[in-house]
Amino acid sequence: MKNLVEELTNKQNLNDNDLKYLLETDIYDEELYKAADTVRRENYGDSVYIRGLIEFTNYCKNDCYYCGIRKSNDNSDRYRLSREDILKCCENGYALDYRTFVLQGGEDPYYNDDLICDIVSGIHMLYPDCAITLSIGEKSYESYKRYFDAGAKRFLLRHETADNEHYAKLHPESMSLDNRKRCLFDLKNIGYQVGSGFMVGSPYQTTENLIADLRFLQELMPDMIGIGPYINHKDTPFASEKNGTLELTLRFVSILRLMFPYALIPATTALGTISPNGRELGLKCGANVVMPNLSPVETRKKYDLYENKICTGEEAAECRGCLERRVEFAGYRIVTNIGDVKKHA
Ligand code: 5AD
Ligand code: FES
Repeated sequence: MKNLVEELTNKQNLNDNDLKYLLETDIYDEELYKAADTVRRENYGDSVYIRGLIEFTNYCKNDCYYCGIRKSNDNSDRYRLSREDILKCCENGYALDYRTFVLQGGEDPYYNDDLICDIVSGIHMLYPDCAITLSIGEKSYESYKRYFDAGAKRFLLRHETADNEHYAKLHPESMSLDNRKRCLFDLKNIGYQVGSGFMVGSPYQTTENLIADLRFLQELMPDMIGIGPYINHKDTPFASEKNGTLELTLRFVSILRLMFPYALIPATTALGTISPNGRELGLKCGANVVMPNLSPVETRKKYDLYENKICTGEEAAECRGCLERRVEFAGYRIVTNIGDVKKHA
């Protein structure tokens, strides 16, 4: 019988049948994790990149069925950070050695293109040695181009699922996978380093959907791939759905590392939320990025995409120190440089 882990490691690919088998069995898990860690060490050594996450608004005009800050959630306690608040977070972060700032928010029209550009260019002027990443959803080509010219060189936009039917089960009719893909290819064409990804174990997800996600990622070839387990939020239509599992998410992190050896793969907050040492396990299975929270403590609880999110009571410095210890305990080392992706093969 052929060894699927060896084949995946050597070819960075498998046919759909073999991928299905690998995704649905646990017999390869230990071997998979080990192979993924070997490949991550060949490409990135024991380095773990850190990104300071600033969650600057929890207003959102969209209504994704899985998300706690969806427009229709009247229980959400909404907030917005001002340009000055955001710059303060960066100042804090810079002193803690962050050299990447990730501005993430709901799709909030209050932040029009002028304001986004003003914030981005403000950060760029004060911290020219830092990378600015935006994670603010679907926009036009022209808007993306303006943010790029203002100094944002990276963008995170998960595709969420690469299957049209599944996409329609997770989102209202006003949203489409086609537009999501259009955004991702626009971002690439403009010259952004692009991050995509999806939730593992989201409602109605099948193994075939997950294979479609991998095929889409092979087409897009993003610089970063962020995945985390789906986690329930009681104020959404999916309140009674099951959470994604640690097991499948870790298996997937390893498969991603073997298929995309060069990629930046975060050990996500969602992974740390479903299991107390989820992020450490993610690192051991091939992940090489962590994204500690730099948002003001007062607003953290309010950015609740899902329930029981970790790190909502900590100061920025606490998260930074906590993660440093966790990363070291797992056998890796935080590096404080800008942390660009390695050249694609
Ligand atoms: N569980 C896990 N991840 C979620 N996200 C949104 N809602 C949830 C949830 N309930 C993820 C989406 C989004 C990213 C910012 O957070 O994939 O792109
Ligand atoms: Fe935030 Fe541990 S990373 S408290």
